[in-house]
Amino acid sequence: MVESVRVQAPAKVNLALLVGGVDQSGYHELGTVFQAVSIFDRIEVKDAPAGVFELAISGPGQDELPTDDRNLAIRAARTLAGHCKVTDRGVAIRIHKQIPIAAGMAGGSADAAGTLVACSQLWGLELEHDELVRLGAVLGADVPFCVLGGTAIGRARGDLLTPVRTTGKLHWVFATSAVGLSTPEVFRRFDQLSPARSTTLGSELLAGLETGDVSMIAGNLTNDLELAALDLRPELAEVLDRGREVGALGGLLSGSGPTCAFLVSDADAAEAVSRELRKLPQVKECFLALGPVPGARAQGWQAHQPLSSTEFVGDWPHGG
Ligand code: C5P
Repeated sequence: MVESVRVQAPAKVNLALLVGGVDQSGYHELGTVFQAVSIFDRIEVKDAPAGVFELAISGPGQDELPTDDRNLAIRAARTLAGHCKVTDRGVAIRIHKQIPIAAGMAGGSADAAGTLVACSQLWGLELEHDELVRLGAVLGADVPFCVLGGTAIGRARGDLLTPVRTTGKLHWVFATSAVGLSTPEVFRRFDQLSPARSTTLGSELLAGLETGDVSMIAGNLTNDLELAALDLRPELAEVLDRGREVGALGGLLSGSGPTCAFLVSDADAAEAVSRELRKLPQVKECFLALGPVPGARAQGWQAHQPLSSTEFVGDWPHGG
């Protein structure tokens, strides 16, 4: 029996985010292109007695997050147990956060995705990855993509996914803010400010992704939520402008914000752009990342061989 499993789950950025009308449950129809990027939350699950669902969180912002049933990771474990009728096992989840919180980078969804993948292995459920992708939609609109990873078109709520073929790696700079933004609040402001729009994605972005034409990708980055987020947080406009001035090929708000995402030509440009952005008072931190990366996956995990912390990508705090 497996006693513990470690998974890393990536953040996401939306290269295009087109927002349409609202469905009966209040969700907006989306036409979006997701990309998973190399900023990871690490999730470790350990066997626990039946009925025990526990969570501990470490890393930046650890005190801001609930560790009870309000946390999407706990809900993911319970949902998987319910779906697969697991009644004789529980789980103790430990999450080390690196994905910024309330930042428009799907941190909570990544934790849910990682928990689904990890618990599926812990409990020996042998679910296909596709089934975990589908199950993710019960938990939140971004969870299926966080399981799938790579680059994908998202339709409906963003949960109906079609993988996109890409060439090469993109270099990203993410500039975070000290104060997060609430996704529902940004969508609400969008509804107040903007009429429903078309969610049909243009072909240029997808062509650029397929051929690896970074300029074409950069010229077609778009986010309908930007207007609403900038209305709530006008100071972010300067961050977007500054990033472009100091050499980014393109920039946009990441998801519902407040993180600003910049596409740059290479690692040197990423360093140069982030150096300048860090000087702005409204920028808390800059993260450099590559995309696309795979979705939530066990790292080097083998069924009969428990992981030592050194085999894991990056360090676990507290000695793993
Ligand atoms: O699905 P998730 O809980 O991540 O979504 C957070 C919130 O974002 C929703 O409660 C909703 O207000 C908004 N949302 C939306 N339309 C979508 C996705 C999210 O209105 N397609």
